[in-house]
Amino acid sequence: NWTPAQIIEDQIARVRDQVGDRHVLLGLSGGVDSSVVAALLHKAIGDQLTCVFVDNGLLRKAEGDQVMETFAKHMGVRVIRVDAEDLFLDKLEGEADPEVKRKIIGNTFIDVFDSEAAKIEGVDFLAQGTIYPDVIESAAAKTGKAHVIKSHHNVGGLPETMKLKLVEPLRELFKDEVRKLGVELGLPYDMVYRHPFPGPGLGVRILGEVKKEYADILREADAIFIEELHNAGWYHKTSQAFAVFLPVRSVGVVGDGRRYEWVIALRAVETIDFMTARWAHLPYELLEKVSNRIINELSGVSRVTYDVSSKPPATIEWE
Ligand code: XMP
Repeated sequence: NWTPAQIIEDQIARVRDQVGDRHVLLGLSGGVDSSVVAALLHKAIGDQLTCVFVDNGLLRKAEGDQVMETFAKHMGVRVIRVDAEDLFLDKLEGEADPEVKRKIIGNTFIDVFDSEAAKIEGVDFLAQGTIYPDVIESAAAKTGKAHVIKSHHNVGGLPETMKLKLVEPLRELFKDEVRKLGVELGLPYDMVYRHPFPGPGLGVRILGEVKKEYADILREADAIFIEELHNAGWYHKTSQAFAVFLPVRSVGVVGDGRRYEWVIALRAVETIDFMTARWAHLPYELLEKVSNRIINELSGVSRVTYDVSSKPPATIEWE
């Protein structure tokens, strides 16, 4: 029976042994897994670690700043932030197909990461936040056993062009163990216990074509929803909750005029394994407050709906 402290100590020794005095590169996403790897490696090898954080313009509100604040400022981790919003939006322009959007986002991420990595000299290792369920999932995918509904781009091998050896200190751990490690390593509780966020980010929460205008509205609406869930003590009672941007115009009456603005859908689910999920029975008062705030604070939104579909058949994400 291992304690988080023992696992950390053990992994630190293993990592030091594996990399010696060489340099390690890590793609930091702000998610739990890569964050825990960053904290762990920083503790193990300090300045031999360089993280690359790609801001694809499809992150949640203030996410990029939070990552820099936590890792670069507080922990002293070397993090290179790449502002690639324009590039991602350019590549996505005119594309409405969800799977194609996923591929574009995944490929663009690899391109950006690759070209950043090429600028850093003397790197021999690539660290990844692979956890045990990822190992199982990709093994199943290779033998054709998994029914792959969506291309989860962040589970996979490293780009062929990068001849780096892998460092994967979480490979034998489950998510709850990874979280405990994160807390033990001093990461903020809110970061460690945050709802999962898909690799393609807001790219699959804006239905159809992705545009900056839509992403900006969605980021604000989502932040309001999440803030009110926290205020009402509901955030940790749901497994995942977020706003979705519907590129549909709906009428709203403002003063004596009619305005046609966008629609926001709210999604909140309870689930154990994310394979099946029940829509969260949020209190009406909470939904009312969120709806009022979104419509009053965001001039581009005229209507808010709540998604009452369970999985199956409705997936958790809308695309
Ligand atoms: P669905 O929508 O399939 O989602 O019910 C199940 C879980 O997977 C997440 N998800 C993704 N994660 N890349 C990811 O990294 C993706 O393309 C992707 N699509 C869905 C979703 O947020 C939920 O937690």
